[in-house]
Amino acid sequence: MRIVFATAELSPIATVGGLASAAAGLSAELRRQGVQVDIVMPDYGGIELADERIIDLDMPEWAGPGRVRVGLHDKVGELHLVDVPGIARSHPYQQPNGEGWRDNADRFFRFSRAVAAFVELDPPDLVHLNDWHTGTALAAIDEAMPSVVSIHNLAYQGTTDGSWLNAIGPRARHYEWWGATNPLTGAFALADAIVAVSPNYAAEILTPEGGCGVHAALAARGPALMGILNGIDTDLWDPATDPLLPARFDVADLSGKQTNRQALLDRFGFADDRVPVATVVTRLTPQKGIDLLLPVLRLLADVPVRVAVLGSGDEALAHELRMAAAAYPDEFGFVEGYDEALSHLMFAGADLFLMPSRFEPCGLTQLQAMRYGTIPVATAVGGLVDTVPDADADVRNGRGFLAAQPTSIDLLAALFRAVRRTGDNRRKTGIQKRGMSVDWSWASPAREYIDLYERLVAGD
Ligand code: ADP
Ligand code: GLC
Repeated sequence: MRIVFATAELSPIATVGGLASAAAGLSAELRRQGVQVDIVMPDYGGIELADERIIDLDMPEWAGPGRVRVGLHDKVGELHLVDVPGIARSHPYQQPNGEGWRDNADRFFRFSRAVAAFVELDPPDLVHLNDWHTGTALAAIDEAMPSVVSIHNLAYQGTTDGSWLNAIGPRARHYEWWGATNPLTGAFALADAIVAVSPNYAAEILTPEGGCGVHAALAARGPALMGILNGIDTDLWDPATDPLLPARFDVADLSGKQTNRQALLDRFGFADDRVPVATVVTRLTPQKGIDLLLPVLRLLADVPVRVAVLGSGDEALAHELRMAAAAYPDEFGFVEGYDEALSHLMFAGADLFLMPSRFEPCGLTQLQAMRYGTIPVATAVGGLVDTVPDADADVRNGRGFLAAQPTSIDLLAALFRAVRRTGDNRRKTGIQKRGMSVDWSWASPAREYIDLYERLVAGD
């Protein structure tokens, strides 16, 4: 089977959030399991390929000229890079001042049109699209072509003015959304299957509260909507071999974790004592609920726990976190930035991992934390419910602690429970080892995708 897999992000080439890791992890595992995957992504610039050849695309005037560079990337293998006017930029979505590029709709609609032109030139068995950046491709792809669209984050829909409906392709009318053009609702109407990145998120987005204004468009597709949980790259995220850690460890022998813990305490200037350390590794956006932590920080002198945050994004939030770090230097630390090496230490050295998300389609960081024997304390939303059974509600299978609602008070209650329960060393080790023993790799999710592809290609 051959598929075209279109994405705006791909690790390690263009990374903004989890979409990059998910796209890279899934496409690599699909290849391992025998699917021929043409990974098609924007040519943002500066990406080197070996054995390169150029394919010119047949594009309408508004979208072109378009061409594809195909070649071998040293990390990814075969890669298709699409060049259309305006797509090459320093950051996929944002200007250096943090605001979105003003022409993002034009850029990604042209990219999507190029994906359709590529599909037409050399039709695969199936097309797999990811998020809004690729959604309008289906407007110009023949309806006989089997198609899947993955929802990594419904909060980003790329909705823009209705004038595009005259341009994007013969099936454009499906993209009309209250007079505007919505690349996602159009893709929902046209795709054969819609996959949310966790089963619980697939259920949440059917509700008015979780559906970001488009739950009705999803409900209209009935059983075409499903959830398949993400995986992580368990070779990259392996505490037994991780070259970014000062010491390595595994589920049979956790002793190396102590060395990482000490390095983490040193990095944040925390005292060397037995008080549990909770870390956060995140984009600073309202989704991630870091603001819910701020009132909790004021109580840290009374709760025996230290908190260390690594994050980048919203400037106002970063400012609040800097202020908190200055106010409570012994209990709270903040490093601003996107720092892969430090992130590995934050997963490996901590006792607890905090995820106060308001919503979370899947979440990869709780999986990375569990892989490194760090116990998640998370809100009961989205993929967090699917991956972190609460250790009080389910004593035998629990892998972490869940806050019932995304509020400061529920978060504090869950943190309290986590600190008390993990004070008992046997209980703590049990929870840690359960999280470490789960196979979080892409092997099983990729099998689910392949089953789905096979059903769609067979016309079921
Ligand atoms: P989202 O895509 O919503 O940001 P995910 O949990 O799916 O959330 O994925 C985020 C990915 O980005 C994870 O691999 C995480 O380790 C990484 N990450 C997020 N913030 C940072 C940061 N400040 N520094 C290093 N890595 C980060
Ligand atoms: C999005 C979501 C995150 C998910 C990731 C990969 O960025 O916010 O929850 O894990 O996509 O699918």
